[in-house]
Amino acid sequence: MSKPTIGIALLGLGTVGQGVWKHLADKRSDLETRLGVRLDMRGVAVRNLRRTRSVRLPKQKLTTDSVALIDDPKVDIVIELIGGTTVARKLVLRALRAGKTVITANKALLCDHGPEILAAAQASGGKLLFEGSVGGGIPIIKSLREGLVANRFDLIVGIVNGTSNYILTRMGEDGLDFETALKEARTHGYAEADASLDVDGIDAWHKASILAFLAHGKWAPRARTLVEGIRNVRSADIDFARKFGYTLKHLAVVRRDFKAGWMSVGVYPALVPSDNILAKVSGVNNGITLRGDVVGSTTLAGRGAGGDATASAVLGDLVDAILARTRGGIVDADLHALTRAGKSLRMADEDEIVSPFYLRMTLRDTHGVLAGIYRIFAQHKVSIARVVQYEHPDKGTGTLTLSTYPASERNIAKVVAELSRAKTVLEEPMLLRIFAT
Ligand code: HSE
Repeated sequence: MSKPTIGIALLGLGTVGQGVWKHLADKRSDLETRLGVRLDMRGVAVRNLRRTRSVRLPKQKLTTDSVALIDDPKVDIVIELIGGTTVARKLVLRALRAGKTVITANKALLCDHGPEILAAAQASGGKLLFEGSVGGGIPIIKSLREGLVANRFDLIVGIVNGTSNYILTRMGEDGLDFETALKEARTHGYAEADASLDVDGIDAWHKASILAFLAHGKWAPRARTLVEGIRNVRSADIDFARKFGYTLKHLAVVRRDFKAGWMSVGVYPALVPSDNILAKVSGVNNGITLRGDVVGSTTLAGRGAGGDATASAVLGDLVDAILARTRGGIVDADLHALTRAGKSLRMADEDEIVSPFYLRMTLRDTHGVLAGIYRIFAQHKVSIARVVQYEHPDKGTGTLTLSTYPASERNIAKVVAELSRAKTVLEEPMLLRIFAT
């Protein structure tokens, strides 16, 4: 019996696209033997035919006409790696509606147009795979949808932005400044084309939102999600963290209270106890802990960004897609139906989100200042745990760093608002969360 041929189209030849091309070329005959098919790379759609790229591919495979490539009747599987949400949305929907299987690593697309895309995927028989959208090479989506599917998760916490983790590691362990560390991350191909997506927390929010949806069936609205990046982190924060047994990490935190019926989603820099497994996830690595009612805590860690890691996830999806096409299965269970499961869930309000906090502020260094500061905390029922002050007598200022006992987001927001108005506080205070399980 002759082997079936699977036609593949690649949209986009950036860092991840080049990784996919390279590793698919290397592994092609292994994959063909393992899957019992012949792989036919029909073409690669790019914006610029002349751009120099690190992978070599025959000129006739390149095209600027993505639509014609998708419409090619011999294309069965479309791998979307162009990023962005406008053109990518149209192309993904077109491919799904034509009955092709779509593989994407586009977290922004899923996050901004999730319901529409999942509905189209459902109508196409579930032909949508997106392992590369979260966690780089870590099979986190497969774990949630398959291996750990028997669980209800009250906590998902992880380091999901490789660029931020790389920057914080280089600042904390090697004393680099923020800009130099970011430049390095770009050189390694970790950062998004617009690096503010990384350092301002948007990329992590996209990923947290996908994880929250897969676990709980609800897309967290941006307005009800705390989204903070690492741009304002200073070495004083990293020092304080270290002094008191913490490591500063950028976290994505999804909590669910099954009794009260709420979910909370936040991404922010946080002080993580140094003995927590996530504190040891350094450099470009991502690490995600899932706490399930059946399995307990499970942590997955590995390279979270870069062409090779994400290509590994995309090729994993490709194998699943081919198996589903050739063995008559659907690619996945009905994801759209998850949305119904999340209908009764609400987002937590500010009284329900509680944690210890860390604050750094620059103060006018004169008598009575601290008494005034402490009064503000007391008024809003926030209890101070530890205090470290750095004096700068030549400037007449001091840097006050402190941690609190657990307090609600509402109460700490009142404290920060009042501190910001105080004449003795010279700059906007820096507020960080302290992660507690
Ligand atoms: N810019 C992303 C990161 C790439 O740094 O994690 C993977 O999504």
